[in-house]
Amino acid sequence: MEYQKILDQIQEELNYRDVFGKVASYIPELARVDPKKFGMHLYSTDAQQSSFGDSSEKLSIQSISKVFTLTMAMKILGEDLWDRVDVEPSGDPFNSLTQLEHEKGIPRNPFINSGALVICDILVSNLKDPKAELLEFVRKITGNPEIDYDYTVAASEKSTGYRNYALVNYMKALGNIKNDVEPIVDFYFHQCSLAMSCEELAKAFMLYANRGKLLETGERIISKTKNKRINALMQTCGFYDEAGEFSFEVGLPGKSGVGGGIVAIHPGQYSVAVWSPLLNPKGNSELGMAALERFTTLTGFSIF
Ligand code: DON
Repeated sequence: MEYQKILDQIQEELNYRDVFGKVASYIPELARVDPKKFGMHLYSTDAQQSSFGDSSEKLSIQSISKVFTLTMAMKILGEDLWDRVDVEPSGDPFNSLTQLEHEKGIPRNPFINSGALVICDILVSNLKDPKAELLEFVRKITGNPEIDYDYTVAASEKSTGYRNYALVNYMKALGNIKNDVEPIVDFYFHQCSLAMSCEELAKAFMLYANRGKLLETGERIISKTKNKRINALMQTCGFYDEAGEFSFEVGLPGKSGVGGGIVAIHPGQYSVAVWSPLLNPKGNSELGMAALERFTTLTGFSIF
């Protein structure tokens, strides 16, 4: 497949001027991002790489980080993890509180904020230094020892993170949070602030495209079964109340973040990351979704 030609065509066809979306502004630091940024990077299992635009520039990965922390928690707790968090799509916005009341404080899935915060609680319980160990994990799967948190973004989110504090407090009242609130939200705000380029994201997600093994060395990081479960959750829950739309338009498992990044994978084939900070009303990158829709249309294959 001539991926570079397809990416060139996408870059030519799509333009930020044609989108109605808005840069996330509820985290003050994210509002400062240049709305014109647009980049895409693809890694394939036969070691091809293709890219365009701002693909090597760092973006705030935000909720994309939830895939990494889920992976770490699955390695620690195995199937017991599912006593604390469910595996159903929520059909609600990412930061919603409503379902918890009727569902005994068990979040619908690990990718909505409540679920990701329970995952943080688990990592805080089980790891000596969760922030350092997350960095170690991401550096290992990307092969880049320089990946780091953006401490300004983490502090900025903390200053307006009332809903995330509310979610942790509420779940603690309902018995599904074991640690103090502060270390949990501190870890969460840092994981969301991870700064990575499309190139680095596509590289990291090769793990999930390559059935749980690093492409270069063949080292197994997670079992095939866990990898299947993570990809299934990306397919059904990776885009919150737009998971159906993403499946319908793109047809790949993926994960978005309010920094405007999206990563999607085709098991056994490739991993592809795209970035445009302009978000649609559901909090997903408008141009990013359009680019991935064009990608699976022009290549003529998705997982369906
Ligand atoms: O919890 C928040 O508000 C953010 N740090 C992450 C949200 C996010 O990226 C949702 N994804 N689309």
